Amino acid sequence: MSEALRDRVVVVTGASSGIGAAVAKMLSEEGARVVLAARREDALREVQPELEASEGSVVHTTDVTDRGQMGALVERAEADLGPVDALVNCAGVMYFTLMKNVRVEEWERTVEVNCKGALNCVGAVLPGMIERGRGHIVTISSDAGRVVFPGLAVYSASKSFVEALSKGLRLETAGTGVKVTTVQPGNVATDLLDLSGDGEALELYGQPTGSKVLDPEDVARAVIYALSQPEHVAVNEVLVEPRDEPV
Ligand SMILES: NC(=O)c1ccc[n+]([C@@H]2O[C@H](COP(=O)([O-])OP(=O)(O)OC[C@H]3O[C@@H](n4cnc5c(N)ncnc54)[C@H](OP(=O)(O)O)[C@@H]3O)[C@@H](O)[C@H]2O)c1
Repeated sequence: MSEALRDRVVVVTGASSGIGAAVAKMLSEEGARVVLAARREDALREVQPELEASEGSVVHTTDVTDRGQMGALVERAEADLGPVDALVNCAGVMYFTLMKNVRVEEWERTVEVNCKGALNCVGAVLPGMIERGRGHIVTISSDAGRVVFPGLAVYSASKSFVEALSKGLRLETAGTGVKVTTVQPGNVATDLLDLSGDGEALELYGQPTGSKVLDPEDVARAVIYALSQPEHVAVNEVLVEPRDEPV
């Protein structure tokens, strides 16, 4: 354990499962005080006792697509634990679907959660971070933010959005003490794939390759690495792939 994260207040969205839950647990092992946020309170309450310092953590049900709820999350987090040192934005959805099948509700949901949700996260924490002259915004993007995958056109577009957003934010906040990181995982063993209902797209593009994919903890280690660097060091992007599935 390094001392870099001890007593730091870190908000993790999407903390009810998968990568977000793994990030929350690893942050707690590093001594951070963690605010667990997602929509499903029961799932958050199952993750919380698994945290090393569960008494130093809090649970706040939050829908990231609702700007008011994101603002309230940060207000309550600050009232409970103090100013937010870092935000890890893990909330996201992914639907394998073919454009020709025009599954507009899935397109819109992807934009709502992955794009507008990311903006709501930034809007909720950025002013306070700039005022305090320190802070770190980490977004779990994807290798699909670098490469467009067939069957994942809208998802890839949403992750390109968060990549561009993070680059712009990084350029604008240079000199303010704020850091901006994207972590870009390849395939990770989580529930994310279960959202997809377009059988044709899954059949064509969503089949496992047979390679060992990443575990959520493999991604969490990259987040901890980015968050625990010295003040003057910025980790801008981390691409983490299964060894046998390079992009
Ligand atoms: N798994 C992969 O292969 C992979 C690869 C690259 C990138 N990623 C990215 O990693 C992130 C986490 O995904 P995961 O793989 O860990 O999948 P996951 O286990 O399905 O986690 C998704 C999380 O997002 C939360 N969420 C969804 N909609 C939300 C909303 N409107 N408001 C608040 N929280 C919301 C879910 O919680 P609730 O349902 O409780 O709200 C859940 O905690 C996503 O951004 C995904 O794009 C995943």
